[in-house]
Amino acid sequence: MPFRIAVIPGDGIGPEVIAQGIRVLRAVDAPLDFVSYDLGAERYLRTGEIIPDPVFEELREASAIYFGAVGDPRVTNPHYAAGLLLRLRFELDLWVNLRPSRLLAPGMTPLKEAPSIDLVVVRENTEGAYVGIGGQFKRDTIDEIAIQEDVNTRKGVERIQRYAFQLAKQRRAAGHPGRLTMVDKSNALYLAHDLWQRVFAFERSRTPDIEAEHLFVDAAAMQLVKNPGHFDVVVTSNMFGDILSDLASELVGGLGQAPSGNINPDTGRGLFEPVHGSAPKHTGKGIANPFGAILAGAMMLRHLGEGRKADQIEAAVISAAGNGRTTRDLGGGLTTAAAADAVLSMQDPVLLAGAGPTTDRRDTPMRRSASADILAQRRAVRLRGVLRIRSRERDV
Ligand code: IPM
Ligand code: MN
Repeated sequence: MPFRIAVIPGDGIGPEVIAQGIRVLRAVDAPLDFVSYDLGAERYLRTGEIIPDPVFEELREASAIYFGAVGDPRVTNPHYAAGLLLRLRFELDLWVNLRPSRLLAPGMTPLKEAPSIDLVVVRENTEGAYVGIGGQFKRDTIDEIAIQEDVNTRKGVERIQRYAFQLAKQRRAAGHPGRLTMVDKSNALYLAHDLWQRVFAFERSRTPDIEAEHLFVDAAAMQLVKNPGHFDVVVTSNMFGDILSDLASELVGGLGQAPSGNINPDTGRGLFEPVHGSAPKHTGKGIANPFGAILAGAMMLRHLGEGRKADQIEAAVISAAGNGRTTRDLGGGLTTAAAADAVLSMQDPVLLAGAGPTTDRRDTPMRRSASADILAQRRAVRLRGVLRIRSRERDV
């Protein structure tokens, strides 16, 4: 039985990058059935609906959700993003937000020196300042009060830290340092984050074989820039995770290539998305980087137990990046579709032949040569009866 993947392309560049992600997932022949959901700003503006309840029930039943982006300048309702993405995270209880940052190619860091950066931010995803508890009093007067509570439950803090310790163990077994950094602000938020401290002390005592340290969030932000190679697994609260994961992704080339997985390890539910958001000013231009969406697709496959195919996609993205076959944000000159073509061409040519046509070809000289290479490869693949032809891209 194939997995049923609910696809929510959403807003802005979401549909453009998700289309390329699906091409790549199809090319590795993953056992996935995609069902697309028309949710997002267009629907909201048309009907006032964010997620109708029957649709929510279908999303709940999906094997996983593949999500593009939320956010549209025409939507002024401040509850809109919360009603779509945060509702899915909260109501499906997707309590882990995994945000890996890996330097795909040495030239992609804005830092002077390019250490090897390969870290994962484990962001608590269902609590903290995001729960929407609080209120406004005397709104729009000079006496206005605005309160938004930071909610930290023992259950929530324990499960995310425990998960991070286990992940550090797994990563160590796979050859990573297996170092855990717990990040909070317990010197100022000495009530809420004291709970993080106590849970950390307990989990650390239970897992003595893992090197575990603590940093306040300001120091963590500084150290991430100063010494990013030091970090392996970073566990933190919802809002700090939101901020630090953007920072970490910028160290390895920016939001365009950053994937994320929102998962519930107990129920197996998951929502996989690029971190970049809807980027309205890039929408419809064919320049959005598809790598974040493609790598999010790989995370989804790994979550569904298709680790080998996930590895294959990740390796292909690394090869494309290493060969400079990227969109502009990563220093290349390719369109969204051509960057996905490059990823496909780094895989077995047999897969390339089945990947379907691209939707978009805008040509600068560099882009033209990339497209021409790929077209030539396709032709070769067809002509020689889809046999073992080495991809020219691999020789670059
Ligand atoms: C993210 C986004 C969301 C968040 C927004 C859109 C609510 O920034 O996924 O990081 O803050 O979690
Ligand atoms: Mn964010």
